[in-house]
Amino acid sequence: MRVAMIGTGYVGLVSGACFADFGHHVTCVDKDAQKIERLERGEIPIFEPGLDDIVARNRAAGRLDFAVDLTQAVREADAVFIAVGTPSRRGDGHADLSYVYAAAREIAEAAEGYTVVVTKSTVPVGTGDEVERVIRETRPDADISVVSNPEFLREGAAIEDFKRPDRIVVGTDEPRAREVMTQLYRPLALNSLPLLFTGRRTSELIKYAGNAFLAVKITFINEIADLCEQVGANVQEVARGIGLDNRIGAKFLHAGPGYGGSCFPKDTLALTRTAQEAGTPLRIVETVVGVNDVRKLAMAKKVMNVLGGDVRGKTAAVLGLTFKPNTDDMRESPALSIIHALMDKGMKIRAYDPEGMEEAKKLLPAGVTYTSGAYEAAEGADCLVIVTEWDAFRALDFERLRKIMAQTVLVDLRNIYRPDEMQALGFTYESVGRGS
Ligand code: UGA
Repeated sequence: MRVAMIGTGYVGLVSGACFADFGHHVTCVDKDAQKIERLERGEIPIFEPGLDDIVARNRAAGRLDFAVDLTQAVREADAVFIAVGTPSRRGDGHADLSYVYAAAREIAEAAEGYTVVVTKSTVPVGTGDEVERVIRETRPDADISVVSNPEFLREGAAIEDFKRPDRIVVGTDEPRAREVMTQLYRPLALNSLPLLFTGRRTSELIKYAGNAFLAVKITFINEIADLCEQVGANVQEVARGIGLDNRIGAKFLHAGPGYGGSCFPKDTLALTRTAQEAGTPLRIVETVVGVNDVRKLAMAKKVMNVLGGDVRGKTAAVLGLTFKPNTDDMRESPALSIIHALMDKGMKIRAYDPEGMEEAKKLLPAGVTYTSGAYEAAEGADCLVIVTEWDAFRALDFERLRKIMAQTVLVDLRNIYRPDEMQALGFTYESVGRGS
């Protein structure tokens, strides 16, 4: 099959490369000519383990092309995926769909023969209807079906998630579109993968409801962690104890500094707006959005408290800046709020992240000192703060740290270490939800 992928952001590039790896012919299109030039040279603009190999392999096999103009790719395509950005609109939290509709218009102008137009970007309920309206308005004669096919991949595990998903959701009532989508995903469906066909609006809502549910789950365990600290219980054991119940499930019960990233914060907010407008507010999700925002600041307070309250002139070494490991993505990362709050109180920050420092420099105040490694960051610091659980921070040499730090204080916001071990090493240790 021939696929045109409009947008070479996270979802577009990963999906395009993986479809090519299935044996389809894919053209990834992006208006950003520089980005396309870089991709053609084999440079991957995002950090995602394994993506460079898949791109190189499929380029060499002639199955993956890049283009700035979508016309030819769309004309030849059986399926055109819209995978452009849907950022939060300033002011009202709604998803900004202008890129989606602009792409729809251009696709309508270029399409020839029966074409399935697939929205892969995360779009609010009803966007498929509007995409269809835009296309019909632009080209009343076009033979096009508009389908919703949300993506559930996680950054840092994107290739694995794309190739071994729990399910594929396809929203369409059109038998011809169903057939094209079945052919596209046939390499996966052969492994008896659930290919779930639903109505278009249902499919759009599945994506938001899924992300919102996960955000609720994380926020729930984070609040239980706070309670554990107050009543002398251990959140990791609570998580295990409840997670063994299959109805609850063990995943996404790691307490931490609050969720970040390009999806949960944006999608939960957009879903609450949709629900308010529909007259059925989602009070649980609204609360989760607020609780998660406040949590990031509470983590800065944790650091201040362990240092005795007044942190003016003291230094924090922050390990891990990205919103989670194995990505260079800094969007809505808890590290941003934490560092801003600590600097506001007069703290000096020495920071290190294995992949995120270039992005971090664009978002953090100019006064932050960036270092070449964890120990360089710890030099002279009053406190080490682990914000993101990169593997590189899982086996730190505490003897070495003891020699180079001004005070032996560790705030472990990802519960990587054990309180008893840290105590034995003579470190003042704070973590999340481990009151016992
Ligand atoms: C999330 C979803 O997991 C994907 O299924 C979805 O496709 C994607 O959003 C999207 O909508 O595009 P992602 O944002 O890459 O994926 O990252 P996650 O691994 O879900 O982590 C999100 C945040 O939650 C991170 O800040 C992470 O540290 C935090 N988290 C996650 C916890 O604090 N505790 C947990 O137990 C799990």
